[in-house]
Amino acid sequence: MFRDVSSCNTYNYGEAVYWDARYIQEDGSCDWYQRYSALRPFVRNFIPLSSRILMVGCGNSVMSEDMVKDGYEDIVNIDISSIAIDMMSRKYEHIPQLKYLQMNVRDMSLFPDESFDGVIDKGTLDSLMCGTDAPISAAQMLAEVCRLLLKPGGTYILITYGDPTVRMPHISRPVFNWKITLYNIPRPGFQKPESSTPSRKSYLEPIALTEKGLLSADFVLEDPDSHYIYVCKKINDTEIDNNTCIPINS
Ligand SMILES: C[S@@+](CC[C@H](N)C(=O)[O-])C[C@H]1O[C@@H](n2cnc3c(N)ncnc32)[C@H](O)[C@@H]1O
Repeated sequence: MFRDVSSCNTYNYGEAVYWDARYIQEDGSCDWYQRYSALRPFVRNFIPLSSRILMVGCGNSVMSEDMVKDGYEDIVNIDISSIAIDMMSRKYEHIPQLKYLQMNVRDMSLFPDESFDGVIDKGTLDSLMCGTDAPISAAQMLAEVCRLLLKPGGTYILITYGDPTVRMPHISRPVFNWKITLYNIPRPGFQKPESSTPSRKSYLEPIALTEKGLLSADFVLEDPDSHYIYVCKKINDTEIDNNTCIPINS
């Protein structure tokens, strides 16, 4: 089953009480937005199999299980919901490559700096952005992700419905030193109208951004409900230029 949210409502998606109530009612697993099979080309391209990976806001997704089947060896999964974490810990107790911890992404102080080579976020920053104090929560979460990925080369992959106008202001802060590359993939099952002409050769082709980190005026979104993949790679201080956003083709 795939789920999507097109807009925020009054629920507090960044708090345990909302998610615990959901996970108590839910049986089995559920992946938001996309399954690993669709994301695999990006994950395999940017995060080597030997990496230590942090999956933030894992919920009851099977993405980490699929990644282990694909050869990944060390994935730490965290979620604010103790219901989800208890369920997932029991489900995967026989898979030593997967660990589950109840934790708030806004405070991951249990982990020392530079603990991970890769961080994957499918729908969790989106949840915080729909909660109360959204900009503060997002800033706390991203500062923690940055701290855990301090090593140059460390990569944060953000899978979201948020286009660059709403996500770039948060992730392109110079303090993070991230070189950001943007991709876009249609929602599962999307059928292109037969009359449409392809705007890109392949979904694996990065989307060019303007100097301000926005989509160019001639960019055509084939599926209006598609998902964005922001690949944020930690760079050396010597690689930084003075732009707030780093255009992908620079
Ligand atoms: C939209 S769901 C995505 C779940 C999963 N990543 C997937 O792709 O199916 C967002 C997840 O983020 C978790 N979450 C929300 N706020 C959080 C926070 N402050 N700290 C940790 N996890 C949080 C929720 O419990 C939920 O499991």
